[in-house]
Amino acid sequence: MMKEELLNKLVVRSCDLRVESKSALQIFSLVEKAFEKEPHSDHREQFLVEKLYQAPPEESSFIPELSLVAELEDEIVGFALLTKCLLVPHHQQQSSSECSTNNNLTSLTTSTEEKQQQESIISLCLAPLAIKPQYHKMGIGSLLMREAHKRAKELGFTSVVLVGHEHYYPRFGYRLMREFGISVPYQDIPAQYCMVIELVEGCLSSDSRVNGSMVQFAKEFSNY
Ligand SMILES: CC(C)(COP(=O)(O)OP(=O)(O)OC[C@H]1O[C@@H](n2cnc3c(N)ncnc32)[C@H](O)[C@@H]1OP(=O)(O)O)[C@@H](O)C(=O)NCCC(=O)NCCS
Repeated sequence: MMKEELLNKLVVRSCDLRVESKSALQIFSLVEKAFEKEPHSDHREQFLVEKLYQAPPEESSFIPELSLVAELEDEIVGFALLTKCLLVPHHQQQSSSECSTNNNLTSLTTSTEEKQQQESIISLCLAPLAIKPQYHKMGIGSLLMREAHKRAKELGFTSVVLVGHEHYYPRFGYRLMREFGISVPYQDIPAQYCMVIELVEGCLSSDSRVNGSMVQFAKEFSNY
């Protein structure tokens, strides 16, 4: 085994994975540094994390048990966050946009939104996944991905969506959203970056609501 491979194995073995609770500042700085040199980033991912952390729990998509850090000897070196999102079926997208354009129909809009929520599929969104630059390519991202999937499944979630590197995520089982007929509400994002995984095999492919559905991310995603 090469020396570098051995070192990476040791790093991964020594990594402690845990739910983050009190280290918000360390995480913001880690996320900022991780994305600093990323060409496709807007370099604002740390503010998304801040918003998600600060949202009132009763209306939040934030799930404390799915905010995970990787720690090496008391240093946080990696972070993965899964938040709740919806896959809104096609017919619900149309009815909701029709109603929300009419300001006088507030109660109708509210009931439509409720119906939309009831008929939508609950999923998770992975964003961000961030590893401290000096620890890249040592296996920590993979470790966090697998742990996040395991914990999400244990909590009863069945799928995860993300917008990310097209050559990184397929190794974990991610497929293009378009294979399932799922889209995102951002027209400027190329389809090869939009991916989804079934944590429970067949949960999306066998659900008639999925084809034509659109991801509705937590509202913090549109305003950070
Ligand atoms: C992308 C990122 C999370 C990967 O984590 P990591 O711990 O470095 O990755 P791992 O060690 O688990 O995996 C290494 C493998 O992933 C590949 N890889 C790493 N970054 C990649 C990227 N940006 N695109 C494609 N492949 C990538 C490596 O080439 C390596 O491949 P190999 O196993 O075939 O040799 C990390 O590099 C990072 O934090 N980047 C900056 C922030 C970011 O881009 N986050 C993801 C947003 S979508």
